[in-house]
Amino acid sequence: MSQIEFLLNGEAVSLNTVNPTETLLDHLRNTRGLNGTKEGCNEGDCGACTVMVEDPDGTRALNACILFLPQLHGKSVTTVEGLVAKDGTLHPVQDAMIEHHGSQCGFCTPGFVMSMATAHKNGATDYDDQLAGNLCRCTGYAPIIRAAEAAADQPVPDHLAKPFILPEILAGVPGGSQPPGAATHFRPQTSDELATWYAANPDATLIAGATDVGLWVTKQLRALPKTAFLNGIQDMQQIEDKGDHLRVGAGVSVEALRPVINDLYPSFGEMLRRFASKQVRNAATIGGNIANGSPIGDSPPALIALGASLHLRNGNVQREIPLEDYFIEYGKQDRAPGEFVEAVSIPKKRDALRVYKLSKRFDQDISAVLGAIYIMGDGKVMSEVRIAFGGMAGTPKRATHAENALIGQPWSMESIEAACAALTQDFTPMSDMRASASYRMEAAQNMLRRYMQDAMGKPVSVLEVTP
Ligand SMILES: Cc1cc2nc3c(=O)[nH]c(=O)nc-3n(C[C@H](O)[C@H](O)[C@H](O)COP(=O)(O)OP(=O)(O)OC[C@H]3O[C@@H](n4cnc5c(N)ncnc54)[C@H](O)[C@@H]3O)c2cc1C
Ligand code: FES
Ligand code: FES
Repeated sequence: MSQIEFLLNGEAVSLNTVNPTETLLDHLRNTRGLNGTKEGCNEGDCGACTVMVEDPDGTRALNACILFLPQLHGKSVTTVEGLVAKDGTLHPVQDAMIEHHGSQCGFCTPGFVMSMATAHKNGATDYDDQLAGNLCRCTGYAPIIRAAEAAADQPVPDHLAKPFILPEILAGVPGGSQPPGAATHFRPQTSDELATWYAANPDATLIAGATDVGLWVTKQLRALPKTAFLNGIQDMQQIEDKGDHLRVGAGVSVEALRPVINDLYPSFGEMLRRFASKQVRNAATIGGNIANGSPIGDSPPALIALGASLHLRNGNVQREIPLEDYFIEYGKQDRAPGEFVEAVSIPKKRDALRVYKLSKRFDQDISAVLGAIYIMGDGKVMSEVRIAFGGMAGTPKRATHAENALIGQPWSMESIEAACAALTQDFTPMSDMRASASYRMEAAQNMLRRYMQDAMGKPVSVLEVTP
């Protein structure tokens, strides 16, 4: 792999030889002696390893434990050691943590202050969301949030105020391309480069945000002998408004997609707010969430209910398929060797979508069941009905029997009860550690009932219940 250059706490780092699946966390602790960044879970769940990463697109908190070094090329990384000014002055969030007793054992604290400092720099004050990816088991969140609020009005320290992009680093971007076919670890800059290289190297592992692939390395200890890192491909990170639909590049992060979706389909946007955590959403791509074929990925059911289509590319051959056809069965997708996901098209329709995510924790948890329901009609009968579930089968799947039970029927609880009965023909869910089969079925049926209650204007979320 060609040279990797980035800024680390303001100093240029240039790595000639790297193990492409070495994580930033290991590099910081083992090679740089920067032990302030902690290893808690090593799988993106706890936030103890949070660092601040900047590039011309913005300032983000990311989990260093599932961030591979090649993903940092051309970026600036600030660790907890870099928050303190050269003269030893603490960052306002650090001062506030002391002032407000925001730390006890302190193991989680470096991760918290990195998330807080990133929010502080971005002027973000929605602390429940900003800190949902940081776990603290001893202090409790109230003092930490009080500290974040207390620091909000303080200016960003000078040494962090300017974007950490030096000309020599910018000069290193793109600079990462190698002749297609020549490398075992490729960092393409365009979708064309990826298409040519991947067609010639179909056995390679594509790595986008690495929020799934990172765990293959840190938890399953898998070796990835051939890889392509997609996060330098700008043309796959665009969201284009095509009039009646959005074309969303596969490399768009879940966090970048969230406000756009929120404007069109607030219930889908709210679900994305509960997708993992800020750190994970900043890395995770929509393409990765679809391509991995997971039966419990959160975005596919919502996209299927909207009638989204998938753009696949193999060399120069491009094709577009209904998203639901991509998922064939558990572990099997309609994707040929050398073919990759280029984009997803999301129809812009009148909003009648509701997305219900059921998980054990409100934030940062994988769904046990996710229901996405779109029903349009004339006020008398339901005409367009698209219902999809995650967690109910080996793939994200449409509930066609339930849909057919509703089409042409009046808007009523009786119609919904017929759909609930039909749902047992659509799915035979399994029992696992997240939920039993019968619980899953009952929860899915209740989601249909909830939709109708919602359509009738009744409060359906505990968050809507006020004393
Ligand atoms: C702590 C934590 C919490 C999570 N919570 C949620 C959650 O609430 N909901 C949820 O749905 N998911 C969740 N996930 C899973 C994960 O974040 C998503 O699946 C994510 O969208 C994957 O995207 P990525 O870019 O990180 O993919 P990667 O890890 O880079 O890749 C995932 C898979 O997709 C393939 N791939 C990536 N891009 C392409 C492409 N363009 N074409 C073809 N193949 C491609 C890769 O080869 C790999 O097989 C969580 C993960 C973590 C670590
Ligand atoms: S160590 Fe837990 S998120 Fe990285
Ligand atoms: S202070 Fe101990 S885990 Fe947070």
